[in-house]
Amino acid sequence: PVPERVADLLSRMTVAEKVGQMLQLDARGDYEGDILRKHVGSILHTSPHRLGHAHDLVQQTRLRVPLLVGEDCIHGHSFFEGATIFPTQLGMAATWDPALTEQAARITAVEAAATGVHWTFSPVLCIARDLRWGRVDETFGEDPYLIGELASAMVRGYQGSGFGDPTAILATAKHFAGYSETQGGRDASEADISRRKLRSWFLPPFERVAKEGCATFMLGYQTMDGVPITVNDWLLNDVLRGEWGYTGTLITDWDNVGRMVWEQKVQPDHTHAAAAAVRAGNDMVMTTPQFFEGAQEAIERGLLAESDLDRAVARILTLKFELGLFENPRRPTLERDAAVVGSDAHAAVNLEIARRSLVLLRNTGGTLPFAGGFTSLDDAGRATGSDDDRPRRVAVVGPLADAAQAQLGDWAGSSGQADWLPDGHPRHMITTVLDGLTALAPDDWTVSTALGAEIVSLVTPPEGDTLPDGQPRPKIAVPRDPDPELIAEAVERAQDADYVVAVVGDQVELVGEYKSTATLELVGGQVALLDALAATGTPLVVVVMASKPLVLPRSALDAAAVLWVANPGMRGGRAIAELLLGLIEPSGRLPISFARHVGQQPTYYNQVRGQHGTRYADLTQEPAFVFGEGLSYSTVEYSDLRVLDTELTEADVVRARVTVANTGTRPVRETVQVYVSDSVTSASWADQELKAYRQVDLEPGARATVELDLPVADCTIVDREGRRVVEPGAFELRVGPSSRRTDLLTAAFTVLPR
Ligand code: IFM
Repeated sequence: PVPERVADLLSRMTVAEKVGQMLQLDARGDYEGDILRKHVGSILHTSPHRLGHAHDLVQQTRLRVPLLVGEDCIHGHSFFEGATIFPTQLGMAATWDPALTEQAARITAVEAAATGVHWTFSPVLCIARDLRWGRVDETFGEDPYLIGELASAMVRGYQGSGFGDPTAILATAKHFAGYSETQGGRDASEADISRRKLRSWFLPPFERVAKEGCATFMLGYQTMDGVPITVNDWLLNDVLRGEWGYTGTLITDWDNVGRMVWEQKVQPDHTHAAAAAVRAGNDMVMTTPQFFEGAQEAIERGLLAESDLDRAVARILTLKFELGLFENPRRPTLERDAAVVGSDAHAAVNLEIARRSLVLLRNTGGTLPFAGGFTSLDDAGRATGSDDDRPRRVAVVGPLADAAQAQLGDWAGSSGQADWLPDGHPRHMITTVLDGLTALAPDDWTVSTALGAEIVSLVTPPEGDTLPDGQPRPKIAVPRDPDPELIAEAVERAQDADYVVAVVGDQVELVGEYKSTATLELVGGQVALLDALAATGTPLVVVVMASKPLVLPRSALDAAAVLWVANPGMRGGRAIAELLLGLIEPSGRLPISFARHVGQQPTYYNQVRGQHGTRYADLTQEPAFVFGEGLSYSTVEYSDLRVLDTELTEADVVRARVTVANTGTRPVRETVQVYVSDSVTSASWADQELKAYRQVDLEPGARATVELDLPVADCTIVDREGRRVVEPGAFELRVGPSSRRTDLLTAAFTVLPR
């Protein structure tokens, strides 16, 4: 049994061997020395070739404790060339579909396990509220309920049926907690957040996966109330370990322990930092090599007890025993072959997720689908079955029309983070929008293209402009000026076309850790390009391929059609082409709102009540597009919302029914959203919060009565003492296709005092 084996091994380990087990080091560095001299317990960022050597080196150590191999498999096995890269987490969130999200995670686990990875640092449970933050794309958006649903599914997908299964990998809930609540959108500073606010919105998704058995938690970089999360006793011990009873393993983020010394300057040296981190309950220390000496010295100087180390090391060894690494350190024995990694079966699921992630935000004058829509593919794989068989000319322009890398987004290997990989993913595995339309459009259609604009140039930073830890700063992205020649070429294509599709957005140099943006506008020559295309009068379809909601110019907001596709992954271009041609129905819904102006930050829908007025003096407060929004090619009507029993106690269920009808001519997948509004609360609270949703498929002319059962126990607020409670009184159930008040039907119910 595992506990006995752990106790036996621990009793045979020296202090140095124990400290080594707590270290996770970057395998791009001196991993030989780390393994042979520091006995490191875990490595990250390795390649299969180096991994084999690393396992061999372990065999030369005294106790031969196997390595735990960690990796950022974020939306696919991001660090392995040829692996399946899905839409980003934010793109997946636009499906609102836990089953598909779980499937993506399962495939990622299978591919990661096949290449020797045991542990992924995913999913992200942060709430994205400030769109300037560089890591919005890594989140499931702005709503805690949706985040909880999808994160729970993702953890299930990674961890599969349990660690006896060789394709199960450890999941990580990160970044615990409040990391996204940045100052000015800037990454990793102080999170300005009260404990009540944390409990209200930021902790619930973490609590859910902690209780559902997510194997590990990663601690955020930031400080809160002046205390780095790494040593935040209240959060780690009172809440996570105490209230939630979490027994999983805690890992720091990158050099969190060192940061307390060199960046946050709240510890005088690595000895004290190591002692504080272990005492606070950290188990695995990511990339702080000095922890090896620091923790040993802390023990020698009495700042730390060996029993503190034992607790952490026991957790790590337990994971290794549970994964079967002592029997098979290279777990699993699956071959790294094309049948598994990047397989056709995985590509098919990827395509389905990409299809479901596309959010149609505007469609006027029946521009989409093209030619009234196609129904199927002919033998050559081209769209057929439209009632209107006139040949068309489509201009597919813009800097992202044929941009493989931007389509994958951040955490896709070649984004500069995996410096041992050859350039990018194999191009043949990626279908861009241009590829998709060229392949699928009927034979007698003409598809033309032009770049139209460039987004940024990459410039070497001036000498001395280094990162805070002294490392060289990556190249700086400087917006390009509009190029009149490029614009003229695109305009010419548009003038010669029946439709112009402009694919615009951001690129990986503007996305990610260290890459928050001060603005949200389309960068470089893109706004000038859209203005010029709009002026041609050719129906303009704007495809916004952006890692996060950007501020769209008037020429885009007024375009014939607008489609937000996030970073849709390898198969994204095909999915987009299918949607434009009407081969699939649009069904994605926004998991996050789009601002009209960067100065509106934040724009999330569930803000607390009580702001004066509903607008700025110089601008409306309304976002450009709200949480939950998304069109289909049909029309849907909601009617007859009823709550069956209107007087309820906390133990009851709100039983509601609503009629949803497809009044158009094409099928729809409708996401019926259920919001709850507590009329009067003892502490200020959001006017409404998403509490449930159902996805229903309706053929043209069909109607359905959708049953919405919601436990009264879910209709909570967090009171002034930080307790989650149901407060008796009047409530409203609001049901409809988005969070916009005018989209929602309302029914009242009352919760009686106990
Ligand atoms: O997992 C990541 C984390 O999200 C941000 N810092 C680096 C870690 C490891 O690459």
